[in-house]
Parts: sequence; structure tokens; C-alpha cells
Amino acid sequence: MIANQPQKTAAKSATSRATAGAEPSRRFCVAPMMDWTTSHYRYLARMLSRHTLLYTEMVTTGALIHGDTERFLRHNEAEYPLALQLGGSDARELAHCAALAERFGFDEVNLNVGCPSDRVQNNMIGACLMGHPDKVADGVRAMIEATDLPVTVKHRIGIDGRESWEELCEFVEKVADAGCRTFIAHARIAILDGLSPKENREIPPLKYDWVYGLKEKYPDLEIIINGGIKTFDECHQHLAHTDGVMLGREAYHNPWLLAGVDQVFFGDTPAATSRHDALRAMFPFIESELARGVYLGHMTRHLLGLFHGQPGGRRFRRHISENAHRPGAGLEVVEQALAMVPEQAAEETAPSGHAMA
Ligand SMILES: Cc1cc2nc3c(=O)[nH]c(=O)nc-3n(C[C@H](O)[C@H](O)[C@H](O)COP(=O)(O)O)c2cc1C
Repeated sequence: MIANQPQKTAAKSATSRATAGAEPSRRFCVAPMMDWTTSHYRYLARMLSRHTLLYTEMVTTGALIHGDTERFLRHNEAEYPLALQLGGSDARELAHCAALAERFGFDEVNLNVGCPSDRVQNNMIGACLMGHPDKVADGVRAMIEATDLPVTVKHRIGIDGRESWEELCEFVEKVADAGCRTFIAHARIAILDGLSPKENREIPPLKYDWVYGLKEKYPDLEIIINGGIKTFDECHQHLAHTDGVMLGREAYHNPWLLAGVDQVFFGDTPAATSRHDALRAMFPFIESELARGVYLGHMTRHLLGLFHGQPGGRRFRRHISENAHRPGAGLEVVEQALAMVPEQAAEETAPSGHAMA
């Protein structure tokens, strides 16, 4: 039972969204990742790129409706443009949560039809919904009725037992008929019977051609490609066939990659000129989170990749890993770790220098 269904209103949330009611650009996106794309990671990502569209971790409709809504939807204004990813399949609940997304200031609401874990399958959440296109269409239609935000779907190219091109097209057509204009396609099937979520991100082969085929067949839809993308060169290749790219693991393990995005994909100046500056720019945020009682280790685990492959990067990681969990650990742990990495001249680390790496 859903009490106090939020009403769809023309007026946007009081929170000032970066896109101010306009569609966010999806040319370059960071994927939703449970436990990884937390508010703390997203803040770091935003220090590195203003234009990258960020996605939250998946939040289930059940958690939002029956749990601590404020806690699940909490984010910092600095994180915009920001999309909320929902997990669920009940149309009424999805509508309720889509309206909440708007009220809390998100720029987009996305439905997860790609996650293969058993836990979510039992609740009809995630990739198993690829087998129920009508249900997804009903959910999407209800979400669109409940909000003015763009409603998007992140999906696989199939699941075991429904692996044909025709079935993928049937899925996309039904969901597009319900009003969805944007499809984010992870370019591999999910094998629901027998593979773990991690294996399902590695074992089924990537079929980028299928995602290109969707754009070719449905040129009016916005098609974003996801899965296994690591370099800007690869992004450029995909952008020749699709409208946008979404990176997951690489953007997490090597966040400095994001520092090249604004220049390379948006023709803007870089948001950060060095890793040191980007991290220093986070200090006030880290201090305010510490003051709110957030444990340092919760934030610093997302910083560990920042000096990936850099001289001193290991010492940085080790110092944080060994000290951030200690009782009372504060910002000084990050300052000490930062001092262990030689600060290079800005030009040496400027994003354009590694933009095509
Ligand atoms: C730790 C982790 C958690 C993930 N959680 C989600 C999630 O909550 N929702 C979702 O749609 N996909 C999730 N994914 C899948 C990613 O969004 C993405 O589709 C996948 O990692 C493939 O992209 P990549 O090769 O660029 O990492 C997760 C992936 C990882 C590694």
C-alpha cells in the first residue's frame, strides 16, 4: 500500500538541478554500481568532470517505500547531473518512486533491467524482466505519467532462453511504445541460471554489433552502449554508431580518466588539472561528512584508484587502507597519503595528455 502518492507537478524540485529541466547529455556516463557509485564516489567523479552523467547505485522500490527514503535518496547538489536508478517491477510502486526522484532533484530516473543476481530475480527486479517486456512497458508507462523527468531503461541484449535479435527488438519496441526514448544497453546477455553477477559481467561475450543494430533499426531512439569499454579510443569508435557511452568498472578503478571527458567529449575546459587539486577540492566535503558522523573509511575506499599507475600511488593506497578505519581517523589521513605522492606539474598530468590513452 502506497500512502501519500506524490503528485506529478510541472514545477520542478526546489533543488536546483544542473540541467534545470533540460535533458541531461548522455554522451558520456558512469554506470550505476552497487556499493561503488555511492554519493562519495560521485562527488570525486564530479571534481573530475562537470559533464559526465552519473548514476546512483540501484535502489529498490521496496527500500524507498518501506525504508528510510531520505537516506536512500540523499545526495549532494555538486553531484548533478545525476540519474536515480530504480529496481522494481510493480507499476504503481515505480510511479511512486519516479515522482520521488523528481521531488528529490534528480535529473533522470532509470529502470534496472540488467542486474542478474538471484536476490533481485526472486523479486522480479533486474535482468529477469527482459523476459517480461509487457511488465516493463507497464512500469515505464506509469513512471512517465508520474514524472516530468526523462525515464530511461538499462538492459541487457538478452537472457538465457530469450537470446534472439527478434526478442531483443520486441523488448525495445514494447518499451518504446510505452514512451521510453533512451535505452542503455549492456552489450551481453545475462545468464540467469548458473552464473554469478560478477561472472555475468565477464563471461557472456560482448556483442557491440547488436547495440549498433538497435541504433540503426530505431534511429529515433537514444541508444547508449555499455560493457567492457576502457579507453577514449574505444568510446570514439562506439560513438560513431551510438548516441553515448557508459563506463562502469574502468571509471571506478581509474577515476582520473574522467578528467579528460569534458575536453574530449564536450569541448569544454577540464574540470581538474591535477589529481592533487581534485582531491584537495574534496576536503571541505570530507570534513562536512566527518562532522555528520560518516566514518572516514566509507569515503576513502572510493579514492583508492585516483593515483592508479602513478609513482607513489601504492603508498597512497596503503596509507589510506591502513589508517582510514582507525577510530577517530580524520582528514589528516588523506592529507598524509596525498603528501606521499609527488606532485607533478599540472601540464604533466593534464587530462588532454592521457585523453586518448
Ligand atoms: C560492483 C558493481 C555493481 C553493479 N551494480 C549495478 C547496479 O546497481 N545496477 C546496474 O544496472 N548495473 C550494475 N552493475 C553493472 C554496471 O552498471 C555495468 O553494466 C557493468 O559493469 C558493465 O560495464 P563495464 O564493463 O563498463 O563495467 C554493477 C557492476 C559492478 C562492477
